This record gives sequence, C-alpha cells and structure tokens, in this order.
Amino acid sequence: MKLVEPVLAFQAELQQIRRDLHAHPELCYEEQRTADVVAACLTEWGIPVVRGLGITGVVGIIKNGSSPRAIGLRADMDALPLQEINSFEHASKHAGKMHACGHDGHTAMLLGAAHYLSQHRNFDGTIYLVFQPAEEGGAGARRMIEDGLFEQFPMDAIYGMHNWPGMAAGTFGVVAGPMMASSNEFRVVIKGKGAHAAQPHRGVDPIMVAVNIAQGWQTIMSREKSPLDTAVLSITQIHAGSATNIIPDEAVMIGTVRTFTTPVLDLIEQRMQDMATHIAAGFNATVDFGFKRNYPPLVNHPEQTSLAIEAMRAVVGPDQVNTNVEPTMGAEDFAFMLQAKPGCYVFLGNGEGDHRAAGHGLGPCQLHNASYDFNDNLLPIGSSYWIRLAEMHLPLL
Ligand code: NI
Repeated sequence: MKLVEPVLAFQAELQQIRRDLHAHPELCYEEQRTADVVAACLTEWGIPVVRGLGITGVVGIIKNGSSPRAIGLRADMDALPLQEINSFEHASKHAGKMHACGHDGHTAMLLGAAHYLSQHRNFDGTIYLVFQPAEEGGAGARRMIEDGLFEQFPMDAIYGMHNWPGMAAGTFGVVAGPMMASSNEFRVVIKGKGAHAAQPHRGVDPIMVAVNIAQGWQTIMSREKSPLDTAVLSITQIHAGSATNIIPDEAVMIGTVRTFTTPVLDLIEQRMQDMATHIAAGFNATVDFGFKRNYPPLVNHPEQTSLAIEAMRAVVGPDQVNTNVEPTMGAEDFAFMLQAKPGCYVFLGNGEGDHRAAGHGLGPCQLHNASYDFNDNLLPIGSSYWIRLAEMHLPLL
C-alpha cells in the first residue's frame, strides 16, 4: 500500500466531513446542504466552484500549467429514502433518509483528493471535480450533461468509483467493457372484454392473454437473443380482476429488463412489443405497450481502464487489484457519462462490515441496507487513487 502521505495526515478531517454528511442525508435533487459543504470546502482550499448544474451539482476546477488536457473525477452526493437503524453518533438525523449506498464516502474521497491536488500541483492540465446529485433513480448524471457539463468543462475523459461491500476492504475491482447493466421497466396493459365468469365465451379474458404473453416473452430470452448475451426479463407484477365470478376488462403486467448492451436491449424491447401485440391479436385482445429505458449499460473504455488499473496498482499494489471483476446486473447513472466521454468506473472494496464500531444495526453491511455504513478506512485509499489517476492522466512534461 502506497498511500499519498499528506492525504493520510488529512484522514481525521476527512472522516469528520464524511460522518457529518452521513448524519445529514439528502435525497435526489435536494442535496442543498451537501452541495454547500462541498462548495465551502473547495472554496476554503482556493478551488473555483461552479454550482447549479443538475440543480444541486457542484464542479470544482483545478488548473495547472499550460496543457489543454483535462480530466473529470466524479462523485455522487445523494442518499436513499430508508430509515437508518444504526445508533452510532453519526447516524442519520433525518427520519426516513439515509446514506445507505456510501455516497457520503464517495463525496469525502473526492474532497480528500481535491484538498491534496490544490496544494501539490504535480500535474499539467485541468482537473474537474464533478459532484453529482440524484444517482439513486434521478439520473443526475444525465441532468448535469443536459445542463452543459461537457461543454462548460471540456474534458478528455471522466472517471467514477463506487464502494463495494463483500469485496475485501481496500482492494479494487474493474473490468474493461460492460461492468453494470442497463435498467429498464415495462408496463403493459392488456385490454380484453369483461364478462360473467360462467360465460367466458361472451368476453375476451385478458388474464389468459397475460399468461400467454408471459410465457412467450421468456422464449425471447431463451430462443431469440444469443445465449452468449447476458440479460434478464422479470415480470414482477400482474394485476387483474376483482371477484371470483368476473372476467375483468384488463390485465396489467409490470417488470424490469436488464442487459449489458444496447443492441440486445433493442432486440428484447422490439420483440416483447411484437409478441405482446400479436399474441393479444390472436386472442381478440389489444395491448398498450409501455417501455421505459432508465439507465444505459455502464461500459468501461479500454484505454482509460488500463490507466485506472495502473493508478490503482500504484496505490494498493498489483495483488489488490482485480482486473476482471464480475459484472453486476445492478445499474448506475455514471453510464450516461461514459456514453458521452471515454472513461472508467471502478469498485473499491468496502469489506464485510468489520469496520463498524458498536452501535450498528442487526443487518449486514450491504448497499441499500438499513445498517450499512461506509468504511472510513477507505478514505485515504480512494483519495490516493484519484490523485494518482489525475497525475498519470495529466503528467508534467
Ligand atoms: Ni450508489
């Protein structure tokens, strides 16, 4: 482990910032106090700040030398609508809101890097510190892009990082190519014709249509997409009917589709619609087909992944970097940034929960769990990674 020494010396202060953010969680696009804390730190350290992209987003700018090269380092700031069950001192002070995904730690790690980089300018170019709102379902990354992130702050590449429980604390994981899935949802309304349940021939039973569509759709997964392409189609809700003796007018099917590539998603969406429409027609029913694409697949670019690997190895040593980490079907809105710019997203092991002092809840230390807490031992590791990455990306010539 070769941590950046001044960051290690700054750890206590960083931990204080992290725990203060943890105690004051804010949801999607409401990160006003969090943004104030971030902007106040950056300003105190002499870093110019631009606010308001994505409503509460904050961008810090550190320039050095004359190179036109530029890099973006991104952290997310939002919390989750969850009641924390930890009772330690820095537990959430806001009922029903909690930093259960470690974005408090992500924000603090980037601040740690900002503090160092503003004082030790061992690079030539521009570093944009991107503090993003609304990762948890609000597509804050897309919102910042729509508000001109990459026009106002032209950068060659952008990098992201997420803590990862279950992976040994302080180890890194990454893979070039798809690392997280696209997340999409569908809502399909099947319109039949209501009738007395004893006289089914007088109606069109939407429940039978739903059952046939549900079965048909699973053959898209097993017979139509390549078996080498990973994807999930889960119907998670079917709603229809109100009594034992009534065939209802309508049935509604709701669920999620996850894929690692857009062409596979295109195929699945199109074939779901075709099949639903034609199966329904075969039964004299019709469908309203609704499909919503939330987050695209997160795809790491090879060149930037190589550089990220080099930076991670420089900090924790080659043995502690898994360069072929297993992708997850979870989704992440940093994917929007990687569609617009080359870059790389990495996981930083958060451990199994051994870091938690007394006063944590009964649950495991997993993301989105009510007894989760970010591992403060990661603060200097994550900051050191950001620093080495920036210095490698923007070397002094
Ligand atoms: Ni998260």
